[in-house]
Amino acid sequence: MEKIAVVGIGRLGICLALNLEACGYAVLGIDVSKEYVDSVNNKTLQSNEPEVSKYLSGSTNFTASVHLKDILDDTIKAIFIVVPTPSMPSGEFSHVYIDTIIEQLQTLGKQTVQRHLIINSTCMPGYCNSIEKKLNDLNYTLIYNPEFIAQGSIMKDQQFPDQVLIGENNVDAGDYVQTIYTKLCKNSPRYCRMSLISAEITKLATNCFLTTKISFANAIGDIATKVNGEPEKILDAIGADSRIGNKYFRYGFGYGGPCFPRDNKAFTKFAENNNISMLISEATDKANQAHNDFLLEEWKVKFREEEFITFDSVTYKKGTDILEESQQLKLAVELAKSGKKVIVKESAVVIKMLIDKFSDLFIYQINDN
Ligand SMILES: NC(=O)c1ccc[n+]([C@@H]2O[C@H](COP(=O)([O-])OP(=O)(O)OC[C@H]3O[C@@H](n4cnc5c(N)ncnc54)[C@H](O)[C@@H]3O)[C@@H](O)[C@H]2O)c1
Repeated sequence: MEKIAVVGIGRLGICLALNLEACGYAVLGIDVSKEYVDSVNNKTLQSNEPEVSKYLSGSTNFTASVHLKDILDDTIKAIFIVVPTPSMPSGEFSHVYIDTIIEQLQTLGKQTVQRHLIINSTCMPGYCNSIEKKLNDLNYTLIYNPEFIAQGSIMKDQQFPDQVLIGENNVDAGDYVQTIYTKLCKNSPRYCRMSLISAEITKLATNCFLTTKISFANAIGDIATKVNGEPEKILDAIGADSRIGNKYFRYGFGYGGPCFPRDNKAFTKFAENNNISMLISEATDKANQAHNDFLLEEWKVKFREEEFITFDSVTYKKGTDILEESQQLKLAVELAKSGKKVIVKESAVVIKMLIDKFSDLFIYQINDN
């Protein structure tokens, strides 16, 4: 049976590993924490991501290890890298986790059989070109294959992608990755194949466009609200134009979470490094903040002193446990600090996180729906 390795089986990697296993591959997951790897092997891993537990308990060909050298198994033809690429203060991503893996591969030496190394982590444009020769010298081909998924639906989004992005300099390697996805996907996605740097740009530019669309919708909603217009009706009508579309185009909170804000900043920085002023991504970030400022002023006036303001969720996306860059959380905090009585309805897990950070700033209600 053909085997694939996934190095980094965190939020995204574990879903990819399980989807690969479910479509017929034997899968080896590699991660650094022994305790975490044990929880995967004995199937006790607790994940907030839907369907992970179900797929894990039903898996028969998925094992995990802490030893990177286990990827040199003869049956392994491809290795996905799904390790973190944290944002640095400059806005650029740090590739230190990927670099560490490459150093380990160099220590293991040149392989006798060729394998495909597929980077799934989000990278700065240009990074893949900078490491390709080192990998080729060790007899690995290099592919950049980022994913367009959302937290809370990662398993499903991987099975039904609109497009599969394959950055490649080696057609055989690109064909191999396309074959993997024809087995994994339950729909017929568009295969977008291009150079490594083009794929890196495409990943960031897609998220930049989506954040711009969200901010535009919120800005129109703010103007409409200010003059007693009807935000929802206006946006619904604009989105009915098929050139625009109504996805990510409603009046709500600003964008947040672990991907959108940081991809947008990285894109701005990438442009700046190349002497291009990326006015759009910069303006989008400012518009996101301006929208939250608008809501804060509106709600301070709208809700009287004795009234309760209820947030059905303060995570960046309802149903997740992610508070990172959540605009609704920022708003709730600012309202509570201004003296308003703010009720937060959240899962027990999130309430514990909020109490640890904000103590009794909010009135908490458990909402496990
Ligand atoms: N989670 C998402 O929804 C999402 C969406 C799009 C892109 N991405 C990108 O995917 C990458 C991974 O994101 P994530 O959310 O899964 O991160 P994560 O932190 O949840 O998981 C990363 C995993 O890699 C492991 N790891 C770190 N160093 C390692 C090493 N040397 N060897 C083996 N394992 C190692 C960590 O222990 C962790 O389990 C990032 O670049 C991120 O930007 C994530």
